[in-house]
Amino acid sequence: MKLIKDVRIIDYKKDTYGHVLISDGKIRKIFESLDNVELLDTEIIDGKGLCILPSFIDMHTHLRDPGFVYKEDLKTGQKAALKGGYTTLCTMANTKPVCDNEKTFKYILDKSKDLNLCDIIQISALTKGQSGKEIVNLESLLKFTNLFSDDGHTIYDEEIMKEALKLSKRHNFKVLTHCQPEYEIVDRDLKLLEKIGGNLHICHISLKKTIEKIKEYKDKGHKFTCEVTPHHIFKSNIDYKVNPSFRNKEDKKALIDGIKNDYIDVIATDHAPHSKEDKVKGSPGISLIEIAFSMALKVFKENNISLNKLSKLLSYNPAKILGLKSGLIKEGYTANLVLVDLDEEYKIDTSTFLSKGKNNPFNKETVNGRVKMTIKEGEILYSH
Ligand code: DOR
Ligand code: ZN
Repeated sequence: MKLIKDVRIIDYKKDTYGHVLISDGKIRKIFESLDNVELLDTEIIDGKGLCILPSFIDMHTHLRDPGFVYKEDLKTGQKAALKGGYTTLCTMANTKPVCDNEKTFKYILDKSKDLNLCDIIQISALTKGQSGKEIVNLESLLKFTNLFSDDGHTIYDEEIMKEALKLSKRHNFKVLTHCQPEYEIVDRDLKLLEKIGGNLHICHISLKKTIEKIKEYKDKGHKFTCEVTPHHIFKSNIDYKVNPSFRNKEDKKALIDGIKNDYIDVIATDHAPHSKEDKVKGSPGISLIEIAFSMALKVFKENNISLNKLSKLLSYNPAKILGLKSGLIKEGYTANLVLVDLDEEYKIDTSTFLSKGKNNPFNKETVNGRVKMTIKEGEILYSH
């Protein structure tokens, strides 16, 4: 058993002080006071001055393994994630070979199981080879996942998108979309959703007019979800290659307002590690999973958005969307937790990244909130 003592406890629904008892991988009990509590054989973790949150769940991570292990591999990516406070990752299918077949699924899931680091929810490509032309063999892949995405690529063929939405309803899976040009494709897909139904999650939205479109459809009562990245709410107008691009000040403000007004469901990292050489050649993306929380916290603080809301977007909503019994600090829930110092300021230093990808435009920027410890199923898997 472990007891996290004298700690501020925050999740989407609470912000309080107390002591969290963990046993058998679960949150056993939350004590307001330890009077009359007998603690035999209990490891005490001092939480004074710290805050405990449900660990973070990333719905959008690129781990590059198999095929691009010079950029990242399953081990370095998951170590970096744990350092960032993440214990569950939905990993994108743009590996080599593309994850559109049983063999690649088995490789990723078996290797991750052996590593015993994060929980990996591997996403399948939506179309064979991410070519956008033909839907993958669902029958063989639905036993591995209920998430399908060609992320990195847009489904340009409207007929394929229609079929995907239809099938998502029939087989109860989710389609995660990458939309370029963003507004036009989101507009098209929401029209299709209105006509056909289905389970849609829109990845990394970045434009004010996209948010307005999303608001229009959510206000009409349509059910779908969407995400923003930490970098699109952190900075605007930066000259650094990422898809979608950095946008302007008004777009960034609209994303933050979208968070305030509950039109955005999830903050997902889109952690996209690349080598120096690949960046020079123009590969889009940012390696950021180990600092994503600190970046988001800074934005939330500057905009007076509550920590409850932050926990909702980093843990509660992803858990709900993925159907996991985590994302809250609640008795009986899985003890997936992160201990943070909300006040510690530090300078981002890409040379200390555990990720192989040092591609990040925010080197030397000051952020706040340091991950001190990451606990998965009651085990300490990272400690600062
Ligand atoms: O910037 C990006 N990089 N956006 C994507 O959608 C894909 C990603 C990658 O795989 O590098
Ligand atoms: Zn992506």
